[in-house]
Amino acid sequence: MFPHKILVTGGLGFIGSHTVVELQQAGYEVIILDDLSNSQLFILDRIKAITGIAPKFYQLNMLEEDKLHQLFLQEENIAAVIHFAAHKAVGESVAEPIKYFHNNLYALINLLRCMEQFGANNLVFSSSATVYGDPDELPIRETTVFKKAMSAYGSTKQMGEEIIEKTCAAKPINAIALRYFNPVGAHNSGLIGELPLGIPNNLMPYITQTAAGIRKQLLVYGNDYDTPDGTCIRDYIHVVDLAKAHVKSCDRLISKNNSEKYETYNIGTGKGYSVMEIINAFEAFNHLQLNYSISARRPGDAKAMYADVSKAGKHLGWKASLGLQDMVTSAWYWQQQLSNAH
Ligand code: UFG
Repeated sequence: MFPHKILVTGGLGFIGSHTVVELQQAGYEVIILDDLSNSQLFILDRIKAITGIAPKFYQLNMLEEDKLHQLFLQEENIAAVIHFAAHKAVGESVAEPIKYFHNNLYALINLLRCMEQFGANNLVFSSSATVYGDPDELPIRETTVFKKAMSAYGSTKQMGEEIIEKTCAAKPINAIALRYFNPVGAHNSGLIGELPLGIPNNLMPYITQTAAGIRKQLLVYGNDYDTPDGTCIRDYIHVVDLAKAHVKSCDRLISKNNSEKYETYNIGTGKGYSVMEIINAFEAFNHLQLNYSISARRPGDAKAMYADVSKAGKHLGWKASLGLQDMVTSAWYWQQQLSNAH
């Protein structure tokens, strides 16, 4: 039997590239689509260096529906699509909301139209814990009521889920939306990892760039929250664990084991760490000192977010296996490889 073919949009990005590696290692044939707007071509060679298999690659912007259509014409029998390709900078989305609605929603709509037309009936959607807004309950369950999204980026994830849910209800398409908490870390080979454009917004790349001397000082956004040490709490998840959740989702959809046409899963460890705990772990496990100082709160930050991950355990048979030490050491190893290469 031929291996099942998976189309991965945004497959050269941070989460996408790690997912491609895990899919190939699980025996899937992978086709990557990426417009290289926030990723680099050398990642393709790195994937091959890890797995020994070069994935087929299409450089393509999903807003060009004709070209997307051509891809589906050329690639018959796509068993599942994993859709990562999207703009994802939270701050930029607040300043440029139309850019985010236009790109993220049209890309998804074009994809769903092609999937319907070509009978590609399985979709794994890259969603985010941001859909919950600033939640009323902790840990966050899949049934936790969505609050208003705090950014246009968050709105596109809420709307994206809605578009998919309604499509699944009306059409033969089945989908799984994975709501990621805070993805961090890198592949243990040091060959792939996060490549932030410009000044990072997220905590871990800011930490690694500060440790590497690229940034002068890390700012801790607020230590007066109602948490044990006053800093915000998040559920950090190793990107390799996260990638594996996508493989499990493809397995479930392709083997028709899903119980609903549209399913949602929280993907985190279920354990929250504060900003200070992350900094302390980074320093302790990597044997170095970070230059940081406490500054004002960042607008829009929720005090604490962590997941109830029991649904993913029960239905996907997935559970995070990598802990804080793996997260901070792999992130630092990747940063060092990058710094050495430049
Ligand atoms: N933080 C700092 N200093 C920094 C960067 C971050 O103190 O330089 C703090 C933040 O205030 C927050 C924590 O570190 O308390 C984590 O911040 P991140 O920016 O890394 O992550 P967020 O939780 O804000 O956002 C992440 C993803 C989003 C997603 C959101 C869902 O980056 O894409 O989770 O909750 F929408």
